[in-house]
Amino acid sequence: MGQNIVLLGFMGTGKTVVGKELARRLRYRYIDTDSIIITMANKSIPRIFAEDGEPHFRDLETRATECVVQLRRHVIATGGGIVMRDKNLANLRRAGPLVCLEANPNVIYQRTHSNTYRPLLRTPNPLRMIKQLLDQRAAQYAKADVHIDTSYLTVSEVVEQVLAALDRLARQRGQKHFLLDKNKTR
Ligand code: S3P
Repeated sequence: MGQNIVLLGFMGTGKTVVGKELARRLRYRYIDTDSIIITMANKSIPRIFAEDGEPHFRDLETRATECVVQLRRHVIATGGGIVMRDKNLANLRRAGPLVCLEANPNVIYQRTHSNTYRPLLRTPNPLRMIKQLLDQRAAQYAKADVHIDTSYLTVSEVVEQVLAALDRLARQRGQKHFLLDKNKTR
């Protein structure tokens, strides 16, 4: 098993908030690929989309997946569209187990509609866009090792489910428990 935990999932599934809490519990560091991209480009994500276009953003995203392979003991949250390039998934798999957070379209809409920093959801009908993108991406999200539906769970419930699922995964793979120092992480 890799040395990090990688969080995949659509916008609004809770990657940031869950990732930060997971990192706190495990005494890992937290990092997200969107922040790496913002640092590389030295501009915000809406500005990258507006000035350079989505393909350029996707290239930076691939570069971000190359950077995180080097990390140890990090929770790595990723942008929702990162799964669309198999190369990205291959890089991320080298970093650690892939945990996909999920939520139903209405919950995603509720969680995202008041934010303006997601260019893909700045459309007249964001709910329709959410459903379309979820359909386009479903087969890619399915490639994760673990899937957790966060729609009706609290952050700490999601964290518990992620930890339990990673323990099961480690045992299936014949490895020791994922969390050797679990008792020290409350
Ligand atoms: C995107 C998701 C965003 C960000 C960008 C594109 C996507 O990240 O990378 O706006 O294509 O789903 P979050 O999933 O963290 O919102």
